[in-house]
Amino acid sequence: MLKQNLPDQMVKPGKVFLKTLAGESSTPPPLWMMRQAGRYLPEYREIRSGVPTFLDMCFTPEFAVEVTLQPIRRFGFNAAILFSDILVIPHALGQNVTFVAGEGPKLDPLEKVPEFQADQLHDVLSPVYQTVETLARELPEETALIGFAGAPWTVAAYMIEGGGSRDFETVRRYAYENEHEFQTLIDVLVKSTTEYLTKQIDYGVETLQIFDSWAGLLPEDQFQKWVVEPTKQIVSNLRSTHPDIPIIGFPRMAGPLYTKYVAKTGVDAVSLDQTVPLEWAKQNLQNKNIVVQGNLDPMVLLAGGAPLETAVQNIKTTLGGAPFIFNLGHGIHKDTPVEHVETLVNLVRGG
Ligand code: CP3
Repeated sequence: MLKQNLPDQMVKPGKVFLKTLAGESSTPPPLWMMRQAGRYLPEYREIRSGVPTFLDMCFTPEFAVEVTLQPIRRFGFNAAILFSDILVIPHALGQNVTFVAGEGPKLDPLEKVPEFQADQLHDVLSPVYQTVETLARELPEETALIGFAGAPWTVAAYMIEGGGSRDFETVRRYAYENEHEFQTLIDVLVKSTTEYLTKQIDYGVETLQIFDSWAGLLPEDQFQKWVVEPTKQIVSNLRSTHPDIPIIGFPRMAGPLYTKYVAKTGVDAVSLDQTVPLEWAKQNLQNKNIVVQGNLDPMVLLAGGAPLETAVQNIKTTLGGAPFIFNLGHGIHKDTPVEHVETLVNLVRGG
């Protein structure tokens, strides 16, 4: 029977998140937060304190499943994001990665561009696939499951830089001075990321987000070469085997280059960082049939109070009339009070 012929109460609610990605708007909008599984939650800190390293968390399905579900139980977000990290790819390619508390990730110096080996990659990453499989079974039926990976530029930036950095000067210079080697590294990352995301889909994720956290550091020609081109290849590789998988791109801090990113990579939706003006996003992205996600400033969520209320209302008013997913402009800050997240959920879903 056609859906239109069913009385309203018989239509199953389904996954609002996936409907939005397919171009249907809904009020209130679906809601999730980047880094929703993380240190602002006491139940996350509790588990984390009993596990030796952060990568052990990522590679132990029992822990990864549990911390993925924690924010869903507490807040009923419309989507769960697989608990893992973008740096599991360098790790799987043989570059040692550690996470030092308070200092962020540290990667051993890269002696040479690693080779792409699918078997080795899947061997190391197989616990992540197990996590996906279990989550697909255990999540509430109204909750969508998001898989993810870092985009080649951002992952390569950590690999060349040896960790996080304020402006990633080493890799930006390297990309000019050693263009050929850098292209080889990017190509290895395109293949690895395609393989990794394909497995995530095969094991049960329903949509993907590609995090390009450092896209905003590049001038237009470099943005085209290292952000747009590799992302476009990954999207087209994935679509050749899984034509219907919705893909969200996040070229953080890309400013006006957001429009170019969307037009050229073929993503279905974009995640906006908090610097993107709402009216601009409406005119240049939503009005061109792009689903947008974002873009509450993580700092206003940390601060709370009246500024939080105003910011949430502004976003809802400007972007809520077309397909839109409420999220932050970047990951939640670890010191954010849990009550502020409760307030956010009420503001987005209620008033
Ligand atoms: O809830 C989720 O969002 C899912 C899990 C997730 C993590 N990292 C867990 C994590 C996701 C999607 C990521 C993505 C990620 N990781 C990005 C892209 C998004 C962004 O933030 O720009 C990047 C650049 C990384 C690399 C990374 N991992 C850094 C720079 C750090 C340290 C930063 C910090 O806040 O300390 C990590 C560690 C990390 N990844 C933590 C979590 C919950 C905290 C470490 C811990 O719990 O010990």
